[in-house]
Amino acid sequence: MDGNGRWAKRRGLPRTAGHTAGEETLATVVREAARRNVGWLTVFGFSTENWVRPPSEVRHILGLHRKLFGRIDELNANNVRVRWIGRPFDEPGSRTPAPIQKAIRDAIRDTSHNTGMVLTVAFDYGSRAEIARAARLAAVDAASSGGTISPTAIARHLYDPELPPVDVLVRTSGETRISNFLLWQARQARVFFTDAAWPDFGADELDAALALVS
Ligand code: FPP
Repeated sequence: MDGNGRWAKRRGLPRTAGHTAGEETLATVVREAARRNVGWLTVFGFSTENWVRPPSEVRHILGLHRKLFGRIDELNANNVRVRWIGRPFDEPGSRTPAPIQKAIRDAIRDTSHNTGMVLTVAFDYGSRAEIARAARLAAVDAASSGGTISPTAIARHLYDPELPPVDVLVRTSGETRISNFLLWQARQARVFFTDAAWPDFGADELDAALALVS
């Protein structure tokens, strides 16, 4: 969800205003994607690298996560189930504050009965760290069982082993490169680049992205 900062700057607004608009856009995109019968939508909400941003910006983005995870009525009305991927809270290096942990847990619990689209939020997430951890755990398995560290064994230890392969990866705001996001899962993904900053991402862009795989 790139380009919140640039979107705000163009309007003479603080970067935080761009993130606020980005959260609204996300709520709209979730609704529109669910209406189009998208099965899984995964968004990069906060990376392991984002902690180095100014504390006030980090606080603001964290607050927006609480806001999003608090949209329970809306998520339920759209039959959307919430999941999360990221560095486990009980592992060394985890920095996720307790209120965000609670917001994530509550949203997962309070939407678990839904049967429609799965919205996975990547928070405190980094793909290389995810793969390195999975390989470490696969090595432990291999040592105890005499097996090998195969791709299947690694896949079993990703943060959410049920996350399906990515069909289409969307990158906004004119960035024509991928980032540290779902590198394992996106092996066969089509990639949709758009110049639209994330707050301007709308139904037309969503349709264009989905057209790559329909
Ligand atoms: C990248 O744009 C965006 C982020 C680091 C934050 C994404 C967060 C939101 C859209 C808020 C709501 C999301 C959730 C999941 C609650 P940038 O800040 O790097 O913008 P720039 O590239 O223009 O500087």
